[in-house]
Amino acid sequence: MSNQRKLRYAMVGGGHGAFIGAVHRKAMALDGQFELVAGALSSSPERARESGAALGLADGRNHGSWQELLADELRRGPDERIDLVSIVTPNHVHHPVALAFVQAGFHVVCDKPLVHTGAQADELVAAVRKAGTVFGVTYNYTGYPMVREARHLVRSGALGTLRKIAVEYNQGWLAAAVDGGNKQADWRLDPLRSGSAGTMADIGSHAENLAATVTGLRPDALCADLTVFGAGRRLDDDAQLLLRYAEGARGIIVASQVAAGLENDLRLQVSGTLGTLVWRQEEPNQLIHSPLDGPRRILTRGSPWLSESARRAGRIPAGHPEAFIEAFANVYLGVAADIRARADGRVADPLEADYPRVEDGRQGVRFIEKVVESAASSRKWTALG
Ligand SMILES: NC(=O)c1ccc[n+]([C@@H]2O[C@H](COP(=O)([O-])OP(=O)(O)OC[C@H]3O[C@@H](n4cnc5c(N)ncnc54)[C@H](O)[C@@H]3O)[C@@H](O)[C@H]2O)c1
Repeated sequence: MSNQRKLRYAMVGGGHGAFIGAVHRKAMALDGQFELVAGALSSSPERARESGAALGLADGRNHGSWQELLADELRRGPDERIDLVSIVTPNHVHHPVALAFVQAGFHVVCDKPLVHTGAQADELVAAVRKAGTVFGVTYNYTGYPMVREARHLVRSGALGTLRKIAVEYNQGWLAAAVDGGNKQADWRLDPLRSGSAGTMADIGSHAENLAATVTGLRPDALCADLTVFGAGRRLDDDAQLLLRYAEGARGIIVASQVAAGLENDLRLQVSGTLGTLVWRQEEPNQLIHSPLDGPRRILTRGSPWLSESARRAGRIPAGHPEAFIEAFANVYLGVAADIRARADGRVADPLEADYPRVEDGRQGVRFIEKVVESAASSRKWTALG
């Protein structure tokens, strides 16, 4: 791609008052790879335009709806047309927007959970394969350097044969009633906008992906218990799952948004025959490795003895904390590397193009479907296809 020019992107969602869109924009700005040139930033056309104006979008590229955005991009020449769209809307909007942009030949980054149903996910995967476009899913926890180190250690056999994979993701922000007016809670607790699950889809999906990314294993059966603690809620605000892996390992996923007092307490623990790794999102620059036959060690981000994938994921020297925004930026760096490689007719270096793909998003959606099926059934085990 000529002169390593910046990749032009549009954003759908992420207007005034939204949470994650601003995080995506900051992450995309971090490494100078992307520039925001267009958008349809809100569900209300007026608010969308106000939000885009505040971000400096030119009037002609500041749209009231994603359909107008897409139509306008298709009219533009290759020198100004966007390379990719970033979708940061509530879950129910992901599928129509992602499908339309992929079918129009644009690269896409979409937040999780990818879509509502396995059928929608299959349709999207087929469309991406047909279009030959890049499609990243912001399972951002996979972008942390010390998660990449955990992946490296597990995959290179440092833990021996895996026995136990435990991911707990506990938050407390839904512990008390959250009345209308909390935009983030409103749609997350609405089946039409969140999907068939609440907490399980919102943060349980990160837990599923984190376990799969670090271990390379996918469970083949699960037993799920979904609970609604908050009065009047229509979707789970608490989830606990038992997992069985064909390779013999066992797993648990705990996800709760009613763990009163907790903030963003995501914790991964993987044990094998030779040792255990523990990583916590609230202390993300450390990875604790407890080998069976030696002293416990605390591995830290930025150290020269880390694997190349972990080293590449850091930007500043050890001891200066890096966290959430940088992890998102790492996902976007992988996407940028893949877009540039494809533009040049190359296959990207896997160390560079290290990002969760549309297939990972589909896996997450299928997993959520099976969790909901299991929770509604009296069967002990539900097979995962
Ligand atoms: N990866 C993560 O860590 C992470 C964290 C938070 C949220 N998320 C995901 O990001 C997405 C957004 O979550 P949020 O918390 O930012 O939600 P939010 O409610 O704060 O923001 C959603 C934005 O999308 C806009 N929107 C809604 N419908 C639209 C439409 N048809 N066209 C254009 N814009 C539209 C809203 O107006 C709002 O600006 C969700 O899918 C959520 O699961 C991911």
